[in-house]
Amino acid sequence: MLDPFGRDISYLRVSVTDRCDFRCVYCMSENMTFLPKKDLLTLEEMDRLCSTFVDLGVKKLRFTGGEPLVRRNIMTLFRNMRRHLESGALEEVTVTTNGSQLGRFAQELYDCGVRRVNVSLDTLNPEKFQKITRWGRLDQVLEGIEIARRAGLAIKINAVALKGVNDTELGDMLQWCGDNGDDMTVIEVMPMGDIGGEDRLDQYLPLSMVRAKLAERFTLKDIDYKTGGPARYVEVGETGGRLGFITPLTHNFCESCNRVRLTCTGTLYMCLGQDDAADLRAPLRESESNAPLVAAIEEAIARKPKGHDFIIDRRHNGPAVSRHMSVTGG
Ligand code: GTP
Ligand code: 5AD
Ligand code: SF4
Repeated sequence: MLDPFGRDISYLRVSVTDRCDFRCVYCMSENMTFLPKKDLLTLEEMDRLCSTFVDLGVKKLRFTGGEPLVRRNIMTLFRNMRRHLESGALEEVTVTTNGSQLGRFAQELYDCGVRRVNVSLDTLNPEKFQKITRWGRLDQVLEGIEIARRAGLAIKINAVALKGVNDTELGDMLQWCGDNGDDMTVIEVMPMGDIGGEDRLDQYLPLSMVRAKLAERFTLKDIDYKTGGPARYVEVGETGGRLGFITPLTHNFCESCNRVRLTCTGTLYMCLGQDDAADLRAPLRESESNAPLVAAIEEAIARKPKGHDFIIDRRHNGPAVSRHMSVTGG
């Protein structure tokens, strides 16, 4: 599938639920209204949607949320996607998780053909963890990560860089990741959704500053490692691990964008940082034939925008898009 800018769309991110058992301060407000369960696509419908995208050329599938592993019976969907891995149609099925349920599901994920998972973890300090996630427990996440490692899953730790919160700790986290054989990615906070009283400008830290600080302690060498995601990677000389930088605010990567996002209600967002969307639920439900669905997907890809409008500064301190990150899972 080629979009109007010649970009090949081969990566589908599927948010299987908007719910989460945490309330990270950069992602959600404390009081969130979630979708009624009756509005969610069934897992069978998600299977049909994902499979249609695979038929159209998607090679990489990532399940996200909210927290994907809190969706009831979610392993059914992973199990069903295995057939696309086995046929060679899909190169990778993976998941982005907060880690709280990893202890329960890591082995089953591996058995379904998942080989690496991205775990959102912004600090190794229990009090800070509690402050950031509001509801999370660090020991449970660390235990889940360890079980996942032992199950054979490669781990990448995703840390959102938060000014005055975890910035002084990112070096220790990088060392910890290296010691455990995990990769790490740092992410610039994106202005999505109303997060209650929190101030984006207070949270935001450009990654050039993070990189400069880390370079005082580690030897960072640019490498041409590609996962199909937006990070640019360096190799960390002291640990041999990889560190990725995701810089939507300071270094736009939209020209190489290869992805679209499906929500748990069947809405397709062509860009994380734009409101334009296409409804796939109606064409999915209106016919047993996939033709209307394929037509709707192709029409949507044909209007994928050039890039996002994220901006954070004193004059633009509100959300760039009104939906929360948890609607599309990043
Ligand atoms: P890999 O396959 O490991 O490269 O994963 P990934 O980086 O594609 O996915 P992950 O779910 O770990 O996302 C990490 C961060 O990148 C999240 O904060 C996402 O919101 C962000 N991200 C992923 N794709 C895009 C994108 O197209 N635009 C923007 N602005 N951010 C993105
Ligand atoms: N900006 C940047 N990253 C975010 N995430 C959630 N909200 C935001 C935000 N506003 C991250 C999570 C997770 C990934 C899916 O997105 O930490 O790693
Ligand atoms: Fe949940 Fe992830 Fe959002 Fe945190 S960032 S509240 S773990 S969806």
